[in-house]
Amino acid sequence: MTKKRVLSGIRATGRLHLGNYLGAVKGFLALQENPEYECLYMVADVHTLTTPYDVEELRQNRREVIVDYLAAGLDPDKSILFQQADVVEHIELAFYFSSVVTMAKMQHLPTFKEKAKQYPKHVTMALLNYPVLMAADILVYKAGLVPVGIDQEPHLEVAREIARAMNQKYGTDFPEPKRFDTPGRYVPSLTGEGKMSKSVEGSYIQLTDDLAMIKKRLAAAPTDSGKGKSVPAEGGVANLLTLVELFESAEKRKEYEKQYMGSGIRYGEMKNELAEAINKELAPIRAKRKELEANVSYVDEVIATGAKKAREIARKTVDEVKEKMGLL
Ligand code: ADP
Ligand code: TRP
Repeated sequence: MTKKRVLSGIRATGRLHLGNYLGAVKGFLALQENPEYECLYMVADVHTLTTPYDVEELRQNRREVIVDYLAAGLDPDKSILFQQADVVEHIELAFYFSSVVTMAKMQHLPTFKEKAKQYPKHVTMALLNYPVLMAADILVYKAGLVPVGIDQEPHLEVAREIARAMNQKYGTDFPEPKRFDTPGRYVPSLTGEGKMSKSVEGSYIQLTDDLAMIKKRLAAAPTDSGKGKSVPAEGGVANLLTLVELFESAEKRKEYEKQYMGSGIRYGEMKNELAEAINKELAPIRAKRKELEANVSYVDEVIATGAKKAREIARKTVDEVKEKMGLL
């Protein structure tokens, strides 16, 4: 193997937002352009089954995420783009991996506990296995680099532990995957609390939002009187300043901070400027999306080709593992 491999994915739970874009997709794009890497980007549709979902919505979303990837600039000639469910090897490897992972370990992960609390009636085996399947997603391609937001770090730690356990016990050669970091590793929520997330209404701006919608969503973000002795470290204003830094510049943020401690920030103007900056970045993505929506057969072809290429690599790894585990 000459090129180092990269693998990442996003669950098929809805339209992508700025958090997904800056925390994950921007990293996908940067790595795609680096000739040292062979990149595989999937929609994690099987992971969607770990929490309650609607069948028809999943059927749509697993395609929409691929369209969002293409619209954002992922190029099927440079990266392998595919749907996780089309590569059955992920699920097969996840079962083999589950034999080196204890239940206690999985039950203690913060991500598991959060979801179990959120959906007390759906604490399923699939949910418990979430990180094991994610480890299989990555290691079935022996990928060493994973562009994801910082919230995924505990899952990557599990993948590293599984890689070590498999290598030790069965003599496989799995790498210990590392997170690829981007400046947008943590995009805060517009509500002023926590991170921007698909599942929190009012927290996000979607990649498909137009200028009017971006303005509307920003207008609803909470602020304060605009001045004070020190700039707030958390809450609505802090989050707006983070977005200013991410979409305008660090200098612009400093200017606002000075205003806060002096003459005061005028939030109406600040939000308008920020909306324009976000729109500037999203406009070409929206335009590309329109083109893609009209080209159904092209998207179908991308999905079919991606699955074929991904399976070729994945099958080799799984057969190797089967042989080492005494199953072949
Ligand atoms: P959501 O929480 O909106 O459902 P996902 O869990 O599907 O998002 O995350 C998909 C990818 O986007 C992951 O790599 C995750 O780390 C990243 N991501 C999600 N939200 C954010 C955010 N607010 N800031 C930075 N990265 C994020
Ligand atoms: N757990 C990731 C998320 O919620 C999605 C995901 C599934 C993933 N499998 C992966 C990310 C493999 C990177 C690599 O965002």
